[in-house]
Amino acid sequence: MSSPTVRINDIGQFLGKTVTIQGWLYNKRSSGKLQFLQVRDGSNIIQCVVFKGDVSEELFTAADKLTQESSLEVTGVVKEDTRSPLGFEIGVTDIHIIHIPSQEYPISPKEHGVAFLLDHRHLWLRSKRQNAILKIRSTLIKAIRDYFDEQGFICLDAPIFTPNACEGTTNLFETDYFGDKAYLSQSGQLYMEAGAMAFGKCYCFGPTFRAEKSKTRRHLTEFWMIEPEVAFMDLAQDMELAQDFLVYVIKRLLATRTEELEILERDLTILQNTAQGSFHRLTYDQAVQKLHALGSDIKWGDDFGADDETILTQEFDRPIIVHRFPKAFKAFYMKEDPDNNQLSMSMDILAPEGYGEIIGGGERETSLDVLEQKIKEHDLPREEFDWYMDLRKFGSVPHAGFGLGLERLVTWVCGLHHLRETIPFPRMMERLKP
Ligand code: 4AD
Ligand code: MG
Repeated sequence: MSSPTVRINDIGQFLGKTVTIQGWLYNKRSSGKLQFLQVRDGSNIIQCVVFKGDVSEELFTAADKLTQESSLEVTGVVKEDTRSPLGFEIGVTDIHIIHIPSQEYPISPKEHGVAFLLDHRHLWLRSKRQNAILKIRSTLIKAIRDYFDEQGFICLDAPIFTPNACEGTTNLFETDYFGDKAYLSQSGQLYMEAGAMAFGKCYCFGPTFRAEKSKTRRHLTEFWMIEPEVAFMDLAQDMELAQDFLVYVIKRLLATRTEELEILERDLTILQNTAQGSFHRLTYDQAVQKLHALGSDIKWGDDFGADDETILTQEFDRPIIVHRFPKAFKAFYMKEDPDNNQLSMSMDILAPEGYGEIIGGGERETSLDVLEQKIKEHDLPREEFDWYMDLRKFGSVPHAGFGLGLERLVTWVCGLHHLRETIPFPRMMERLKP
């Protein structure tokens, strides 16, 4: 009878049994009669021990020829190995070699520069750290969807081609659309506002595009955004929703991805604090005062710079919510603060430890007159917003929502310096390949 083919992560169920695993050689070490093959299959890495006395001379010699990233099927007996993080190893009885690379694998276990690694992103994905980051990303995507699905939101995909600039006209990717001008979507929000009036609560979760011409560690030109939108919701409720959502997602992460967080050597304290909720709240005014006390020269009315976000968030032990920003630097759709017409009913959530903005959102303007005025002030093409103005003409209600940048979230929870490792194939100003 042939042995069952199993994934390394499931190998504990086969203790003492003979199994086959399918994968790639991650690393190798030999000492006389023994060869230790580190084999990865995408689910995990296991040590496979080839003992000269247990296998044919032919097989032992063949195993010796294996190089990094050779593909193979290994058959052997599952044994306990308390020294390995997995807890098991395989005593090899047979190896079926599928492919031995004809040249040396470019990414060796030694250190490489980031540019080199990004050029080899298609191979870099196989490394342990990159595996851990992208597994965390996958888990967060599922948790994000689960949260909104469980709360009764309808998933409503927003278009990618659009004639509307939602987040200003300075970072649009323009494309020819059969002779007309179209942009790659910066945000699905305007369409979600239509969705909120149709379904009460909805969300979109897809790629968004911004021609970010600055090279920063917080900006990609293509990134994924989750954008919920809710009818009959005000700013206070919007902040509650965003906090509740983040708590849910972080709890899921802590419950299911401890192994990966450990590979990344992530300190869990701040994530555990975050899972308790009670995010700190500051108005923009209070945040500016605090920034002055911390030595920033920000002027009232300026948007936070990257450095401001860094020093501000280092002060807190969990995310902070900053609300009521000056309307002057916020998007056209932001509702004016009824108590102070210089302010907007906006909010950002800033991740602690210097990470900064991960969520932006707020309550939407409902007044047709104010919107007409704002569209003019922002120099937007009025005719492209006819459909949007219909939403205020037919059953207009207070509504609010937000957008979370997935890569910003992954960067923070993984404790990384730069966004580029949190998406399988990053797109930045100077990078379109691979
Ligand atoms: O603050 P932003 O621009 O807000 C919006 O787009 C709203 N229309 C969302 C809404 O209310 N439905 O972007 C939202 C989030 C930011 O907080 C950040 O996490 C992320 O999107 N983001 C980026 N992530 C990576 N690269 C970029 N260039 C990003 N720009 C924004
Ligand atoms: Mg923002």
